[in-house]
Amino acid sequence: MVERRPRLEGKVAIVTGAGAQGTVMGNGKAVSILFAREGAKVLLVDRVEERARDTWEAIRGEGGTASVYAADVTGEEQCRGMVEAAVERYGGVDILHNNVGVNGPGSVVEVSREEWDRVMAINLTSMMLTSRHAIPHMAAAGGGAIINVSSISAIRPRGMTSYTVSKAGVIALTQAMAIDHAKDGIRVNCILPGPAYTSMVAGGMSEDTRELRRRASPLRVEGNSWDVAWAAVYLAGDEARWVTGVALPVDGGVTLDSPRR
Ligand SMILES: NC(=O)c1ccc[n+]([C@@H]2O[C@H](COP(=O)([O-])OP(=O)(O)OC[C@H]3O[C@@H](n4cnc5c(N)ncnc54)[C@H](O)[C@@H]3O)[C@@H](O)[C@H]2O)c1
Repeated sequence: MVERRPRLEGKVAIVTGAGAQGTVMGNGKAVSILFAREGAKVLLVDRVEERARDTWEAIRGEGGTASVYAADVTGEEQCRGMVEAAVERYGGVDILHNNVGVNGPGSVVEVSREEWDRVMAINLTSMMLTSRHAIPHMAAAGGGAIINVSSISAIRPRGMTSYTVSKAGVIALTQAMAIDHAKDGIRVNCILPGPAYTSMVAGGMSEDTRELRRRASPLRVEGNSWDVAWAAVYLAGDEARWVTGVALPVDGGVTLDSPRR
């Protein structure tokens, strides 16, 4: 019988977008809960404080350690403050999980310039800003793990061009940071979730669409936020010590398959 220690025991994690819109479980919320179950102290960052507070209550109810930090990660000073809060409250930053992301519908003809810039700022520039403030603390402590949430949309476009481009940028950012900061012992990886049933997409989705998304997987299994969160636990922990610069699809095989009847 193998008894194991919690995978993230003694580590400090920042999760951005740690709350969830609506009532269905979200990726950021599930990651925060699993990180805390695995022994990490978690700083729950969200633009909407009460959403992060909901996640905090779930973690507190299980006896985990977490606290809320309200911030918009598109603002550099707020990113700096977020990292300083983790250092002050918990003594450092070992894990940065960049989960914040929003949809960006439309082609280049349809999208407005303002909307394009907004999607890039939230989905891509925010990850550069959070990372640039976390990395010096990680490097000073001898290393760390950064996980960026991209999307299969980055490699399989579907009429959401600003979203696709921002998420493809997340893959490039991940690879560039993995090379730039390997010498500091910092691993940087990204996750490409597929059509999972999560807080971000559940609002207003018909049962027919939900079923179509389930059937898109050759496994014929509906994915959810816990599937995405377990991948993050692996990438955050020391079991992934030799893994950096990867773009891991968590999509039930969707990107390998062609539409079938
Ligand atoms: N659900 C899917 O099918 C799917 C597929 C591919 C990728 N993703 C990615 O998963 C991530 C989101 O997952 P989720 O389920 O946690 O979504 P969610 O929409 O529930 O968002 C989580 C939180 O992010 C917060 N937030 C939004 N903008 C912010 C900002 N500027 N600063 C701080 N907080 C902000 C929101 O308030 C929300 O509470 C995104 O990066 C998304 O692109 C999801």
